[in-house]
Amino acid sequence: MPDFAIRTAVIPAAGFGTRMLPATKVVPKELLPVLDRPAIDYAVAEAAAIGIRDIVIVIAPSKMALPAYFARRPELERALHASGKRELLAELAAIGAGCRVRFVEQVTPRGLGDAVARTRGLVGTGPFAVLLPDVLIDAIPGGLSQLTDAFDGAPLVMVHEVDGAEVGRYGIAAPDPRRAGMLADLVEKPTPEAAPSRLAVTGRYILTSEVFDALGATPPGAGGEIQLTDALRRMLAAGHPVGWRRVRGQVHDLGNVEGWLAANLALAGRRGLLPAGEDALAPAAEVAMQ
Ligand code: G1P
Repeated sequence: MPDFAIRTAVIPAAGFGTRMLPATKVVPKELLPVLDRPAIDYAVAEAAAIGIRDIVIVIAPSKMALPAYFARRPELERALHASGKRELLAELAAIGAGCRVRFVEQVTPRGLGDAVARTRGLVGTGPFAVLLPDVLIDAIPGGLSQLTDAFDGAPLVMVHEVDGAEVGRYGIAAPDPRRAGMLADLVEKPTPEAAPSRLAVTGRYILTSEVFDALGATPPGAGGEIQLTDALRRMLAAGHPVGWRRVRGQVHDLGNVEGWLAANLALAGRRGLLPAGEDALAPAAEVAMQ
């Protein structure tokens, strides 16, 4: 019986976060809060929820705040201890959700595919998950859990439907008409005319170690960067099956202010932090988006 357990999650976090400047000039976009937690916490929690205990985060040299966030702060812990703030101490201890968190540097921004390629030595040979932390999936069970339930040894990508005008921002799936749940092709950031569907890659993947060889052979693509989508496409062309599953839940893009705000409002509503009724909410959202 093959072992399909996913033990490691890769979280690429080396990007500049230009769409959220100037907020991301100094603070990595992965540390911007969604309600009261840094965005990356949601990705770590999603991975930990399926039993993953090993997290590999890819950072740029300018993003040392990320390792600092996952490291201990003894002087802060001592101060909280001295003032009897046990709940806050427990909050600090819960960062990382009990996982071992390791970091890999991507010195030159050469794309998502290159970022994933750099984790080869830490990921090893088993299947692994990739979570893009600027995508928050609001779903029960979580996005990664939905994907692992469907994992049978072949790589999988999660997709969600987008408007025709938006296809150029995503990897777009071409489902295989003859094999349910399997891909025929995958295209990174196509024009609306060239897009094979409106099924956009959501930023959750289960990959197998073959992807590292495919990445090594993948030349720069869209935006002059090495694209994970192109490596998966290369695997498809070489006869490796790659599957797709549609997310069941709400997808929020935290990389732009509208998506970040929508995520905050959705989570705040669930926690009872919003005034009752849509009438009260609508003007506040409009003001905040200006
Ligand atoms: C990346 C991937 C793309 C995917 C998207 C999801 O693009 O390359 O295939 O659809 O994330 O957010 P990026 O947003 O880094 O340009």
